[in-house]
Amino acid sequence: MLPRYLVNFNLSELETQTSDFLIIGGGVAGLFTALKAASLGEVTVITKLSLEECNTSYAQGGIASVMGEDDSTILHMEDTLEAGAGICNQRAVQILVEEGPARVRELMEMGVEFDRTNQHYALGREGAHSRDRVLHVGDCTGRAIQKVLMDSVKSCDHLNIKENLYVIDLLTDRGRCVGALVFNPEKERIEAYLSKTVVMATGGMGNLFERNTNSDVATGDGTAMAYRAGAEVMDLEFFQFHPTVFYTPEGKAFLISEAVRGAGGILRNEEEEQFMIQYHPLADLGPRDVVTRAMVSVMRKTKTKSIYLDLRHMGEDYIKRRFPNIYCTLKDYNIDITKDLIPVVPAAHYTMGGVKTDVNGETNIKGLFVTGEAACNGVNGANRLASNSLLEGLVFGDRVVRKAKSETGFSFNSSSVKIQAWEAGDSAGIEISGTRDMLRKVMFGRVGIIRSYESLDAALQFINQQEPLFRHNVLQKESFELKNMLIAAELMAKAALMRKESRGGHFRQDFPAQNNKWRGHLVFSLSKERKEEVNWIGTMW
Ligand code: SIN
Repeated sequence: MLPRYLVNFNLSELETQTSDFLIIGGGVAGLFTALKAASLGEVTVITKLSLEECNTSYAQGGIASVMGEDDSTILHMEDTLEAGAGICNQRAVQILVEEGPARVRELMEMGVEFDRTNQHYALGREGAHSRDRVLHVGDCTGRAIQKVLMDSVKSCDHLNIKENLYVIDLLTDRGRCVGALVFNPEKERIEAYLSKTVVMATGGMGNLFERNTNSDVATGDGTAMAYRAGAEVMDLEFFQFHPTVFYTPEGKAFLISEAVRGAGGILRNEEEEQFMIQYHPLADLGPRDVVTRAMVSVMRKTKTKSIYLDLRHMGEDYIKRRFPNIYCTLKDYNIDITKDLIPVVPAAHYTMGGVKTDVNGETNIKGLFVTGEAACNGVNGANRLASNSLLEGLVFGDRVVRKAKSETGFSFNSSSVKIQAWEAGDSAGIEISGTRDMLRKVMFGRVGIIRSYESLDAALQFINQQEPLFRHNVLQKESFELKNMLIAAELMAKAALMRKESRGGHFRQDFPAQNNKWRGHLVFSLSKERKEEVNWIGTMW
């Protein structure tokens, strides 16, 4: 049985800090929420590594927002719903597209300078968008946004940033979230951060997969700890692979932004032939899942290890100006993208599922809000529309704070936090980093782009064999993290096994068609007796 807490502890013996808002995670969702919350009280932000190390920093393409005269929120909504393959929360999507432009203007006021052509914003196009609507800062949009947010939080009163701390578990008291248990690696001790409003913005779980575009911090901690605390988690079978990453000899996947294809980049096979038009009417700009599977199919047919991305026709000046980061990075690998083809392969990119929330980021646990990639509010459905995620972080971060503002009354008695003591087992033979590597390989091969009953069953068998790890009682970040990865991986594989159809970011080769019977959501939670429960929500929205 899954323990309620990953460690045994006695709250009254721990060093304790209290604030009005506790924000876990420091990407766009966490920092934007923190800045808004700072006008209401004392805010603490905890990050796993340094403040810049988050998925936001790696976002290249941009932020989708209706800005052009030929565009409208209705078109943005239609594109988002179409990409989401029939299971988006329409209300959440409407909020995203309608409140998005105002939040983006706030970012501009804070100092983000999006690229312009003459007097107008230079709007890019990405897959499955029917209009040019992606604001960008060269090909380092996320980094530019993160820098402005970091500068703002550092100069903000009432905002306390705590870097390099690992949140082990959410603390709950009689069904209410009251803070978090935190491992301080420098002091090698557990600390407690208490708050009446806890906002989890811990990002996704791309690191469950061997090849991924994510920051090393994205290991599914948020989903796993919220699940242990009793939160409902939803849509975990839907995971987005990005079609184009450059796979470096060191094994780190470097994203080649979809904006490159939006600007006219073409995918080619070994013979340098275009092939995407045979797979989708939008050809190279089809939905990510379609492009990804087409690439896998071409690689299998031609027995090759990669596909090629061709930018050569775009002209040297344009390429260097529009994609300076990609140009310089690949130059280090002796690839001149103005003259050479780029070898690309798909990699794990974005987690559509997560902790189930309403349109204000509220979960089924009082006092616990979740926003950003860790949340599942239904805006992404089965497949997120490109460049909607930075926007989601802004819009729903703002809504969390507006909702939390109206919350009143909170009393907390530390002695009433129930802890469930468990016996530590023999840790001999438990190998953390080897198991982590194996898990990532298993997930990529068996729970990745193409799934089947056999592959998912094999993955679950591997995950179940790691059960003794949960008796491993050491204060070690790597051990906590691996436990969280195993919990998140198990939930994803189980959901993928249960969903007997293919939709968006979930493809079963044994059930390759979309099936209306499955138009809904799988929701996992733990019962009071800590037994796994699965609920089906059919026509939720
Ligand atoms: C990209 O630049 O291709 C990534 C954008 C996104 O995932 O939204």
